[in-house]
Amino acid sequence: MAATTTARLLWGLLLIHGLHFAHSQVHIVYLGHSHGRDDPLLTTRRHVRLLCNVFSGREEAEEAMVYSYTHGFSGFAAVLNSTQVLALAGFEEVISVFRSKTLKLHTTRSWDFMGLGWLGSQGISSSLQLDHGHDIIVGVLDSGIWPESDSFKEPPLMPPVPASWRGGCVRGESFDPKKACNRKLVGAKYYVAGFEREYGALNTTGEAEYRSPRDRIGHGSHTASTAAGSAAAGASYFGFGPGAARGGAPRARVAAYKVCWFREMDGACSEADVLAAFDEALRDGVGVISVSLGSPPPLMELFRTSTDIGAFHAAQLGTPVVFSAGNNDDRLPSLVQNVSPWSICVAAATIDRTFPTQIVLGNNLSFTGEGFIRKEMKAKLVESIQLFTDGSCNIERWNRTRRAPGAIILCFAAIGDTSSAFAALSESDGANHAEQDRHRKLTGSFRCVLLVERAQLCVSGHSQAYTSDTSADRILSGGAAKPADAFDVGAGHMDPLRAIDPGLVYDMQTRDYVVYLCSLGYSEAQIKSMLLPSPSVDVSCAAGGKHSDLELNYPAIVVSELRATVTVKRTLRNVGQNRHAVYFAAVVSPHGVSTVVWPPLLVFSGQEEASYYVTMSPAKRSQGRYDFGEIVWSDGYHRVRTPLAVQVTNSKDGGPHSM
Ligand SMILES: *[C@@H]1O[C@H](CO)[C@@H](O)[C@H](O)[C@H]1NC(C)=O
Ligand SMILES: *[C@@H]1O[C@H](CO)[C@@H](O)[C@H](O)[C@H]1NC(C)=O
Ligand SMILES: *[C@@H]1O[C@H](CO)[C@@H](O)[C@H](O)[C@H]1NC(C)=O
Ligand SMILES: *[C@@H]1O[C@H](CO)[C@@H](O)[C@H](O)[C@H]1NC(C)=O
Repeated sequence: MAATTTARLLWGLLLIHGLHFAHSQVHIVYLGHSHGRDDPLLTTRRHVRLLCNVFSGREEAEEAMVYSYTHGFSGFAAVLNSTQVLALAGFEEVISVFRSKTLKLHTTRSWDFMGLGWLGSQGISSSLQLDHGHDIIVGVLDSGIWPESDSFKEPPLMPPVPASWRGGCVRGESFDPKKACNRKLVGAKYYVAGFEREYGALNTTGEAEYRSPRDRIGHGSHTASTAAGSAAAGASYFGFGPGAARGGAPRARVAAYKVCWFREMDGACSEADVLAAFDEALRDGVGVISVSLGSPPPLMELFRTSTDIGAFHAAQLGTPVVFSAGNNDDRLPSLVQNVSPWSICVAAATIDRTFPTQIVLGNNLSFTGEGFIRKEMKAKLVESIQLFTDGSCNIERWNRTRRAPGAIILCFAAIGDTSSAFAALSESDGANHAEQDRHRKLTGSFRCVLLVERAQLCVSGHSQAYTSDTSADRILSGGAAKPADAFDVGAGHMDPLRAIDPGLVYDMQTRDYVVYLCSLGYSEAQIKSMLLPSPSVDVSCAAGGKHSDLELNYPAIVVSELRATVTVKRTLRNVGQNRHAVYFAAVVSPHGVSTVVWPPLLVFSGQEEASYYVTMSPAKRSQGRYDFGEIVWSDGYHRVRTPLAVQVTNSKDGGPHSM
């Protein structure tokens, strides 16, 4: 087929252009779904056979193999040079070959950053008892687990572990499964082969790391407790915000899969290890997988990163995967990660709690920012500097410059919600040009101000905690103080209680995946091997392979380069309690786009699904700006919202303008 040849040719060119190295590196060879009830040993034998094609002997091939993935999907990790990569990519059964990159942890590495190491537990009296979730096991792919934490203690009356659970806890350094695991922490495993091929033997001297599921970094315990931690009384942040800490689903159980290892003051997660954890977690029977790590930007092509592949097969097996979106500077566009359409991608937002701190300058000018200052502090302002070109106030990096022994650094950052006043000191003279103007257009440039202790009274600060009302529709975009659009906040704040009863859902069937994979240029044979066999589903691409990603039944509609009228079909499934339901559409058209939804009402009368069409036409001249709108289906109680993002592109003469 012509399309296949072109895709393969492109593939080859990309590889030749991008990769030529004699020195061997860990690669992942992805082969599609695993063969269900096949003996995993048979699958591994197939992998070795394939690998033997590019090595002179079987022994060499086995030596090069790092992992053979046989449960959730089929593939292997192996140490390969560029010749071998090219040769393997030429096999029809090979869907992709890519370098096993080192992924980074997302969200903060809280404990080390705060200089805490890991504090021991202090006794527990959990009062909070939420009853649901005990039948769900959350698989957390991260830096491991600190089992002594209160968050992983068995809550009272925890029922036995579900009989279907096939996972378990492994023994390792400073990790005795008999002591560590219980009905709450039901799984703990570690994967280090990829990391060691990449960086050499793990350094475990002086507890620099633990060859076990134990969490050296703290991040894995942080994410696992955020998702499913038991209630732990007496938590606070240096005395601020005291109360009980608990996870979103405190009755759910945790299975920790350690894939990230301490290296150069950070966590390094080899993709070969990440895929091994996905593979086993799917076999073990976790109910949901949480992954707060990703590859540094730019975004990789689909199926050329472990997280896309792992999540793709998890989704087919009915296991949802929740990813972090990344923590990159929000003033730069397009830094979101882990955005495959078969997974849930979550970003952090500000919450309804602020820690206002008042700063009074020597001339009595005062302004409010956020900070954690326990008691009044006094210091002299001697210098104000913008520390880093990327605008961040990274204390650790600042510390490295060692220019300010004993100094206090005040870090002024523009934070989303203007209800707490902004504080920004000018670079030239902090004392005289303090600016406190919420109406002023903020440039988004962050500044850091250096204060030196042990000097005369000049500036004093003091914080207190209080709660404010931050609602989803007032979200502002980080640095820019502009109202947030769908590219800043995705579909918006989630509402977990309403999500239990959404009314309607956009479902994806195997055929949707087929069409989507066709639009990505995969051959029919490849698509067949990527999707679990399903005899009733047509796995062919339309003649000429002309498919658009707009055909995916995705809950958002994004149209880039709208030049002429486009019609998009969506299908909703009624999952509400009433099998007979009528939903009406309310449409907010993006600026400069004419949007018609047909039919304007959907009647579910016994049948589960109903489709509608959205026809969008340009109604302005523009070149390249995205405008935003929405379609909301409602039966008076449920509210099912689809964000619209449309880029009208029809003006040929340069700069954007409207009529
Ligand atoms: C890669 O390894 C194979 C097998 O050892 C060898 O034949 C080939 O020359 C190597 N390629 C490069 C670019 O070094
Ligand atoms: C291993 O870790 C120890 C303790 O942190 C450190 O002193 C030592 O330099 C490390 N060794 C290597 C080879 O990095
Ligand atoms: C600042 O206020 C204090 C107390 O209100 C006052 O004593 C002091 O003179 C003021 N300083 C200036 C520079 O106005
Ligand atoms: C800053 O450097 C000092 C001295 O090297 C060190 O003791 C301290 O932990 C560092 N602080 C941070 C936040 O990195």
